[in-house]
Amino acid sequence: MKVVILASGTGTLLQAVIDSADETIDIVAVGSDRPCQALERAEAAGVPTFCVEYMPKVTDREKWNRTLSEKIAEFDPDLVLSAGFMRIIGPTVVERFAHRIINTHPALLPSFPGAHAVADALNYGVRVTGSTVHVVDSGVDTGPIVAQRAVPVEPNDTVETLHERIKTVERALLVEVLRDIAQHGLTIDGRKAWIEHP
Ligand code: GRF
Repeated sequence: MKVVILASGTGTLLQAVIDSADETIDIVAVGSDRPCQALERAEAAGVPTFCVEYMPKVTDREKWNRTLSEKIAEFDPDLVLSAGFMRIIGPTVVERFAHRIINTHPALLPSFPGAHAVADALNYGVRVTGSTVHVVDSGVDTGPIVAQRAVPVEPNDTVETLHERIKTVERALLVEVLRDIAQHGLTIDGRKAWIEHP
């Protein structure tokens, strides 16, 4: 399975996928919206990279989406993985790679969508949050859910400590899901998404 990975930050999720990739997973490129550690990790691993920089208030959003779409298409991926990509992927990209983009989110969707999921869950006072892998549709963190795993919230948690524990779970879940999709494919029917195990 040829995978293009999109990431914007420190890239520990990306690193987990790079480290675990077996012969079923071929990371054909890593793309970002900004210079970041994730791109450095990809370069260190010998994976081709691209950067379609987004600058709020300066960048034409539709043009940015078209360029991103073209860049991804150059690598002809079977799957696009958004792993810590901190931009909303627009309809141009979502439609071109429909049902082939998955995202990992640090909360149990549909609770706490958006960019501040960990802080929102902590501030709400939930006792359990977690990680969700879902298909990307045209909404913000609204697509069909592929897999979820819970993480308990501890009384003394800060956003940082909780996010670190969630990320440990996210990395393991993502690696498992990718391997499963590579081996068995992903079936999507309306709101339901599942991996057909033999
Ligand atoms: C992850 O928690 C991801 O779900 C969120 O940003 C984090 C990325 O972490 N959107 P890293 O950059 O891979 O370390």
